[in-house]
Amino acid sequence: MTSQSPIPHQFITSQYDLILRRGKLILFDIGESEPLDIGIKDGIITAISPNLSESAHQELDLAGKLISPPFIESHIHLDSVLTAGEPRWNQSGTLFEGIEIWRDRKLTLNLDDVKNRALRMLQEQAKQGILFVRTHADVSAAGLIALQALLEVRDRVRDWISVQVVAFPQDGIYSHPDNLNLLEQALEMGADVVGGIPHYELTREDGVNSVKHIFALAQKYHRLIDIHCDEIDDDQSRFLEVVVAEAIKTGMGNKVTASHTTAFASYNNAYAYKLMGFLKRTQINFIANPLINITLQGRTDTYPKRRGVTRVKELWQNGINVSFGHDCVQDPWYSLGTGNMLDVAHMGVHVCQMTGRDEVNACYEMVTRNAAKTLDMEDKYGIEVGKPASLIVLAARDRYDAIRTRIQPSYVISQGKIIAATTPAETKWYGEDYGF
Ligand code: FE2
Repeated sequence: MTSQSPIPHQFITSQYDLILRRGKLILFDIGESEPLDIGIKDGIITAISPNLSESAHQELDLAGKLISPPFIESHIHLDSVLTAGEPRWNQSGTLFEGIEIWRDRKLTLNLDDVKNRALRMLQEQAKQGILFVRTHADVSAAGLIALQALLEVRDRVRDWISVQVVAFPQDGIYSHPDNLNLLEQALEMGADVVGGIPHYELTREDGVNSVKHIFALAQKYHRLIDIHCDEIDDDQSRFLEVVVAEAIKTGMGNKVTASHTTAFASYNNAYAYKLMGFLKRTQINFIANPLINITLQGRTDTYPKRRGVTRVKELWQNGINVSFGHDCVQDPWYSLGTGNMLDVAHMGVHVCQMTGRDEVNACYEMVTRNAAKTLDMEDKYGIEVGKPASLIVLAARDRYDAIRTRIQPSYVISQGKIIAATTPAETKWYGEDYGF
């Protein structure tokens, strides 16, 4: 089935391990389907039909609930999650104080510390319907402990959640003599994606060189690219144009992602307009992190205070692929958060002013299928016959309702297994007893 097929009806086998009955499927470009049955065998979706006559070992009656492909976390730092307050709290709330605190905290990193926290977070995210994750692993100065831990976690969890690891030089690749080598070593160890942070290199020239080096490494090792790019309110931070230029020259296009790009929100409109034209030529992906961008940016402003989120609506209107990430959960940069992608989409709706019906639906796509494109995982993502049976069930009328209520999935099914189920909390109203 493709999203263009309004009435899905396909079979490739008649025997099922699990049948989901009477669920309404999200058809991204259309709306929601009529209630349908989904048959699952050996972890694969083997039938989608208005009414499957066979029975299965296990059946769930969804009674009209929504069936969605799983949420995708396209940008998180699993090495720093759940460390808020260690060794101290970020009092200024700035990105740069966060980097300083993390520099101290990472001196005490060990494999078990990172693995335990990452596993706890992934489990929390899976319970909330997230089955695909791209995490950054800091590979600067303190060595490759975070990377090694996250690579081990990636391999350990692959039966229930798909994880990509970015080799991310948090302190820059030219700020310490070891960092350049550590970045390449990280790729040799098996990192899936090359990262960078050009706006945090010591000079503009170092920033430009870092982007060129990242592209060269990605080509040498055949990896994706995801650069923390212009995560600052400085309207003169213009590394996005360097990323775009390299994407055009190398033809890497949709294998490249620019994360954050918060300075793009502060560029003058004439420059932003020119840049938008270049972006349309490259097909690079964007990741905005609304929860973190709205809290970290604008800290040096008095009033008016900038929102600090990149031009999400304009990128979307220009057909450029945008996804949303949580970025930080209870760490030196953001002490709140539960890892819920509906919280992220909800904040995106507000801070990007995407409150129109189509815009709200677009924000849902930014935590689902757009992110699959960013992670280059479209071949194993989506509810189609022949694809892995990884999906979630939401007690919501539609995508708009799911974002409005930020509801916990009733069921999370990964590769054909029900790995989490949530019963909605029930609140008893005693007002009548008091004559209210
Ligand atoms: Fe980040």
